[in-house]
Amino acid sequence: MPKMHETETIGELLTRRGVSRRALLKYTTYLASLLALPPMAAKGMAEALANTRRQSVIWLSFQECTGCTESLTRSFGPTIEDMIFNLISLDYHETLMAVSGAAAEAARLAAMKENKGKYVVVVDGSVSTRDGGVYSTNAGKTNLEVLKETAADAAAVISVGTCAAFGGIPHANPNPTGAVAVSDIITDKPVINVSGCPPIPEAIAGTVAYFVTFNKLPELDDKGRPKAFFGDTIHDRCYRRPFYDKGQFAKQFDDEGARKGWCLYEVGCKGPVTYNACATVKWNGGVSFPIQSGHGCLGCSEPNFWDRGSFYQPLSSNTLNDPEIIGGAAAAGAAVGIASAWLARRRKQRAERETLP
Ligand code: SF4
Ligand code: SF4
Ligand code: F3S
Repeated sequence: MPKMHETETIGELLTRRGVSRRALLKYTTYLASLLALPPMAAKGMAEALANTRRQSVIWLSFQECTGCTESLTRSFGPTIEDMIFNLISLDYHETLMAVSGAAAEAARLAAMKENKGKYVVVVDGSVSTRDGGVYSTNAGKTNLEVLKETAADAAAVISVGTCAAFGGIPHANPNPTGAVAVSDIITDKPVINVSGCPPIPEAIAGTVAYFVTFNKLPELDDKGRPKAFFGDTIHDRCYRRPFYDKGQFAKQFDDEGARKGWCLYEVGCKGPVTYNACATVKWNGGVSFPIQSGHGCLGCSEPNFWDRGSFYQPLSSNTLNDPEIIGGAAAAGAAVGIASAWLARRRKQRAERETLP
C-alpha cells in the first residue's frame, strides 16, 4: 500500500496542517514577485501546487559549515522559508533528520528507490577530490561517491551556497582537499547554482519552489544561477549608488563619509562585480543587508571570492590581475561618467605615487 506522503497532494497536506488556501495564495503571490512573474501567475501557481504531490528532496552536506542550512531554517516567522517545508518531502538531511547512523543511510537509499528519476538533490558544501576524496567522508563513503550515487537517478541537482556552486572557502588557495564544485562532478544533468555564503533564504526556497511548481528549471545565467535572483549586481540596485555616481566615497569606516552613508567602494565594496539579490530582497525578512549595515559587499556569491585580494581595498587597486574583476569594475565604471573619471584619476594618482623616487 502506498505511503500517505506518496499520494497526498500539497493542498491536502496544507489542510491537514491547518494552513489555509489563502495563506498558500499569499505565499505564491510573494513567490511570483520574487521570481519576477506577472501577478496573475500567483493564482495559477497556487492551484498547481495544491494539486501536486510533494517533491522528494535529498539534501547532502559535504565540506560545509552548515551556514547554508542555517540560512534556510533560521526564519523569524511564517514566511516563504517556512512554507517551503510544506512543499517538499525532505527525505534526507543529516542536520535536520531525527534518525542517524545506519537508519539515516537507509532513509537516503529508500528515498532514491521510491522516487527514482523524480527526486531533487540539494547539496551544500564542496566536494573533496584529492586522494580519491578521502578528506570528507560519511558512513564510510566519500562525499564524491555519495554525490555520484545519489545524483545518478535525480531529476535535477541544486547546489546551495558558494561552496557547492563554485567550491567556495574549501576551494580557496591552497585548497588542501582538492575541493571542487558539484557541477565539476555532475555533468550529465541540470545543476542549478544558488550561490552566496550563505545564499539568501528566499533564493533557496524560491528556486526549489519554482522547480516544484513548474517542474522545470528557472532561467539561468552563465554561471548556472537563477536570473530572478542573480540577474543584477548589488551595485545595480544599491541604495548608496547615487553617492557612487556623484563620486562621494567613505574613505574609512568611521569617517564623515561613512557617517553620511556614502558609497563604500573605497573601503573595498565588491558590489559592482557581484551578482546577487541582497540589495532588493535583503536579509532577515527584508530588514537589512551588509551594505546597509555599513560594510562593503565581499562578493560572496561569486567564484573565488576568498582569493580575489583584500576585502578592504578598492576593486580598482587590489584585483588588477583578475581579468574578470577588471572587466566588471570597468563595466560598472563605464555606466557612470563621474565615477569613471574618478577611477581614472585614482589610477593616475596611484601610478604617479608608484613612480616617485
Ligand atoms: Fe558555509 Fe558559506 Fe559554504 Fe554555505 S557557502 S557552507 S555558509 S562556507
Ligand atoms: Fe553600493 Fe558598493 Fe556600489 Fe557603492 S560600490 S554603490 S556601496 S554596491
Ligand atoms: Fe554576500 Fe555581498 Fe550579499 S557579501 S551577502 S553578496 S551584499
